[in-house]
Amino acid sequence: MQQYVTRGGNPLVGEVEIGGAKNAALAILAAAVMSDEPVLIENVPDVRDVSVLLDAMKRIGAHVERIDRHTYKIDGADIHTLSVDYEFISKIRASYYLLGALLGKYKQAQVAFPGGCDIGSRPIDLHLKGFRLLGANVEIEHGLIKAEADELKGSQIYLDKVSVGATINIMLAASMAGGKTTIENAAKEPHVVDVANFLNSMGANIKGAGTDVIRINGVESLHASEYSIIPDQIEAGTFMFAAAATKGDIMVKNVIPKHLEAISSKLVEMGCEVEEFDDAVRVVCSKELKSTQVTTLAYPGFPTDMQPQITTVLGIAQGTSIVTESIFENRYRYVDELSRMGASIKVEGNTAIIYGVEKYTGAHVSSPDLRAGAALVIAGLCADGVTIIDDIYYIQRGYEDFEIKLRSLGAAIEITDSEKEIQKFILKTG
Ligand code: UD1
Repeated sequence: MQQYVTRGGNPLVGEVEIGGAKNAALAILAAAVMSDEPVLIENVPDVRDVSVLLDAMKRIGAHVERIDRHTYKIDGADIHTLSVDYEFISKIRASYYLLGALLGKYKQAQVAFPGGCDIGSRPIDLHLKGFRLLGANVEIEHGLIKAEADELKGSQIYLDKVSVGATINIMLAASMAGGKTTIENAAKEPHVVDVANFLNSMGANIKGAGTDVIRINGVESLHASEYSIIPDQIEAGTFMFAAAATKGDIMVKNVIPKHLEAISSKLVEMGCEVEEFDDAVRVVCSKELKSTQVTTLAYPGFPTDMQPQITTVLGIAQGTSIVTESIFENRYRYVDELSRMGASIKVEGNTAIIYGVEKYTGAHVSSPDLRAGAALVIAGLCADGVTIIDDIYYIQRGYEDFEIKLRSLGAAIEITDSEKEIQKFILKTG
């Protein structure tokens, strides 16, 4: 089993290049099968979630050609199966985007019902409500969601809760439904806008993405396109908080600074300097970190996917901080691991009360999910001594070359596969 091993204490200094947004890529790749002509997609991150989705797409008959590490040509002309197996949906929930894509294109699809997740119950009632309002008959039988329609008809759809997944899935199906669809109370995340831009580049007619009302005029077919995915806001934010934790100075390159505003303002409140450039942000943290308060919210609020990282950094800030998680109910499972490293954090319901400690101390911890895993790496990079992080499989789901990028900034971190390799690392860095 692979582990990360880190020795903390090195300030992270230098430049890091951010890859394409994982959550945009998952939706855009699924959407690409809606065209019967080849679609070229650039800036696809080389992360495990993307490989799983590409495998699922191949299984249903899509042609997937890897042009280079970050570029794929997808051709959905020969899709022969409209059913996505549990094997894929159990590995990544986002393969449910194939439901919206296939339903839109073929008016019929079935995918396994996504299971529970480590960060709390994750219902998909709003996705299904949207498909039904578009005229599909949606049934859940034997663990499968089956959706079909003679024809899909545009409709007015109000989302009771702001949901990224439901907004995108409904947008996919509605882009090939007859007539006009309006999605109200839509999610405004940058990757929702990216998916709409991509669909429009294939000939869809979607307006208003990025606001809370999206208007879609259905079209009969989607054509060939070339598209480059936006930079990953969460990967960028993770490096920005790593700079804060290690009192570093990082130029985070290839980003859209506007997408990082909520993250940048919290860093400024905590006493860091954040300088914005056209496509980069520089984070310099030389002073003692200050406590603050944060509530996770849908975009443009502070992202829930940055909650473990900010909590971890606030754990070594002066004073008492409060973090409120308003999106997912079970997103503090990493706090027990952080406590093993000396954190003093009390979780009550969806609130974490963080009493800042002077420093973390290295320990053997395990990564409970993707973003929490990244947060534990940040803790390891600023801790006294050596930290071993198990279950890095989760981290690799969403971060490309994480340890390589961190090492280029001066971090002492390696992937190890055995006790012997850990001992070698300890000797080398000790
Ligand atoms: C996406 C992201 C995830 C991020 C989350 C919130 C992907 C692949 N994943 O997840 O990284 O943390 O957005 O920014 O893009 N809800 C319902 N019913 C539904 C759907 C959602 O009640 O049908 C609730 C959820 O339980 C949650 C909230 O709505 O409380 C937001 O979830 P949603 O935005 O849908 O998250 P995902 O799309 O699953």
